[in-house]
Amino acid sequence: MGWRGCFGPAAVLFLACGPAFAQSDPAAAGQAEALAKANARIAVWDLPQLDMLPDDAFGRLARFGRSIVLATPRHIGPDAADPAMRFAGNNLACGNCHLNAGTKKFGLPLVAASADYPAYSSRSGAPATIEDRINGCMTRSMNGRPMPSDAKPTRALVAYLKVLASGLPADARIVGAGAGAIPELDRAADPARGAQVFARTCVVCHGSEGQGVRRNVADASFGYGVPPLWGSDSFNDGAGMNRLITAANFMHDNMPNGTYWLMPILAPADAWDVAAFVLSKPRPARAGVDRDFPDLLLKPVDTAYGPYADAFSAAQHKYGPFAPIRAAIARLKAEKGSVPNPNDR
Ligand code: HEC
Ligand code: HEC
Repeated sequence: MGWRGCFGPAAVLFLACGPAFAQSDPAAAGQAEALAKANARIAVWDLPQLDMLPDDAFGRLARFGRSIVLATPRHIGPDAADPAMRFAGNNLACGNCHLNAGTKKFGLPLVAASADYPAYSSRSGAPATIEDRINGCMTRSMNGRPMPSDAKPTRALVAYLKVLASGLPADARIVGAGAGAIPELDRAADPARGAQVFARTCVVCHGSEGQGVRRNVADASFGYGVPPLWGSDSFNDGAGMNRLITAANFMHDNMPNGTYWLMPILAPADAWDVAAFVLSKPRPARAGVDRDFPDLLLKPVDTAYGPYADAFSAAQHKYGPFAPIRAAIARLKAEKGSVPNPNDR
């Protein structure tokens, strides 16, 4: 019996999913309706018990994969014991963003990743395997270098992700995917107002310089009890968390740490502004991000770096408001279909 047999057939249900927030004004109601339509077939999931896996080669590999998610810097960080395994460029853990080892709803869950790849990547303009996607986070969120597909940490991560996705259909859309979808502001997010939110709500853990708290001051490979939010040991400017929509939703649904999306602590406007404050701070720069997205019409509206297909300023792409940009992109799509990135080699 293979490892899949250990769990029995996982129950995968589909349901119509309503909007996540109460609606009163017509614009928001329209947004909710669009959301409900997009969410019409969403898989509800339950997690297989990783600890029920037999103590065989696959079981050990998958457990090692979970350990890499939670204790990334110990295994593959810049100060990892084995120099050949030093792939990550910072001491973050995957699990600092993919909360509860990638199993938290709206905490950037990794539950469906294995079922979703291979998939087309608009960022690279080419098909991406699950190994490619992992390396997307290695080179951006972890500010590191890509891991070979046959490296043990890659194989372990792939095994862990495979267990998480057991029972899910290919291309699954899952309940709780991503970081959520709080209503957008019709103004630009405001870093100065966000600084006050940060001082009230975040500084107690993340520190006044956003530096976080190391688990062991003498040995960086122990990683962080509280991760840094900016500076040299943070994610780089090409990372998904460097996009305002992702960051604001993540913060709203998960921060202060322990927050659950059904009982958020931050008001949506506070989440937008504090995200703007965090993303206004310095962080490592990734070389060549101007070549991302060979078709500029597929570039997310909140990408903080150009070039852009539209004429909106870099500041508006970084801080919003996004609705006018989205409308311009939709017009350009109807007119031209695609806009090639001039930096694409
Ligand atoms: C700084 C935060 C952060 C860190 C650290 C991080 N990631 Fe990510 N990761 C993201 C974001 C943001 C996304 C994009 C989610 C989205 O597209 O909505 C993502 C997406 C992914 C995906 C694709 C998920 C899917 O279902 O499409 C995989 C796989 C992944 N990360 C693996 C990793 C691994 C492995 C590590 C550690 C080596 C890691 N990530 C570290 C933020 C992070
Ligand atoms: C109670 C302490 C605490 C508070 C308060 C808190 N955080 Fe966090 N934050 C954490 C911890 C711990 C993690 C990592 C979670 C994990 O590894 O499971 C984290 C992770 C994060 C991450 C993703 C990891 C990274 O390095 O980018 C972001 C972004 C973040 N917090 C932003 C905020 C913001 C903004 C606030 C204020 C609104 C806030 N946090 C308040 C403890 C806290």
